[in-house]
Amino acid sequence: MTDQATDPTPAPAEPSSEAPALQLRDVSSGYERTTVLRGIDLTVPQGSVTALLGANGAGKSTMLKTVSGLLKAQTGQIFFEGVDVTKASAARRVKQGLCHIPEGRGVFRNLTVRENLVMQASRGGEASAIAQATEVFPSLGRRLGNKASTLSGGEQQMLALARAYVQKPRLILVDEVSLGLAPRLVDQIFEFLHELSQRGVSLLIVDQFVTKALGMADKAYVLRQGQIVYDGSPDELLAGDIFSYYLGTDEGSAPPVA
Ligand SMILES: Nc1ncnc2c1ncn2[C@@H]1O[C@H](COP(=O)(O)OP(=O)(O)O)[C@@H](O)[C@H]1O
Ligand SMILES: [Mg+2]
Repeated sequence: MTDQATDPTPAPAEPSSEAPALQLRDVSSGYERTTVLRGIDLTVPQGSVTALLGANGAGKSTMLKTVSGLLKAQTGQIFFEGVDVTKASAARRVKQGLCHIPEGRGVFRNLTVRENLVMQASRGGEASAIAQATEVFPSLGRRLGNKASTLSGGEQQMLALARAYVQKPRLILVDEVSLGLAPRLVDQIFEFLHELSQRGVSLLIVDQFVTKALGMADKAYVLRQGQIVYDGSPDELLAGDIFSYYLGTDEGSAPPVA
């Protein structure tokens, strides 16, 4: 990762409730001299769940990093709730209500569970953040004083989700949160994501459990070699050959389908 977006803009325009949660217009992005994503047009409607699929190396994580501002778009525009955030810093986007749960790195391993939660809370809201997090994930409640590094993989992912939850975001970008977890935990995590969406949070989900992601999605995109090759209904994508055609072969190996 190279570019930390600078934030030269004054206070952002007011978000519009009519606008989509997220809109990318002709975005390209990448690393140093490499362009990974090209000509990306993508919309996440307010309150919807959008699945972003693609084989390993297709550019899914690059896309989420570009939306959250960890990477700067090389060209094009990004709108969050109608506000142009293309040049806004990652911190500014967080303040506006955007949350990114990055691949494998959603928690501070050397901090305790409690510290991980409290740092996401608003001032004065620390106790309620802990109460909310442990209500949705009771097992975290028994580990509040433990360092995140001592948690199991599943508990760490729950902590990552709980941190997102207490921040009260309106759009969450979820990158491979179920990676390497036991099926029971994967189910629990998808149930939690479903519940968030029921409460009106918009979600953009990248997950190797393609049928689970599509099962809860309102719309789907497939990325292949940095470009969108499918934009449409999850059901259509699930039906028959289209699915394997689109997901088959970026860097040789198809993702697991479960
Ligand atoms: N930090 C980086 N620096 C340079 N290239 C990178 C970096 N991270 C990823 N890439 C490249 O960008 C492309 C897309 O990667 P990524 O977005 O991680 O794909 P996905 O999440 O779909 O597996 C790959 O070719 C990968 O090698
Ligand atoms: Mg990835």
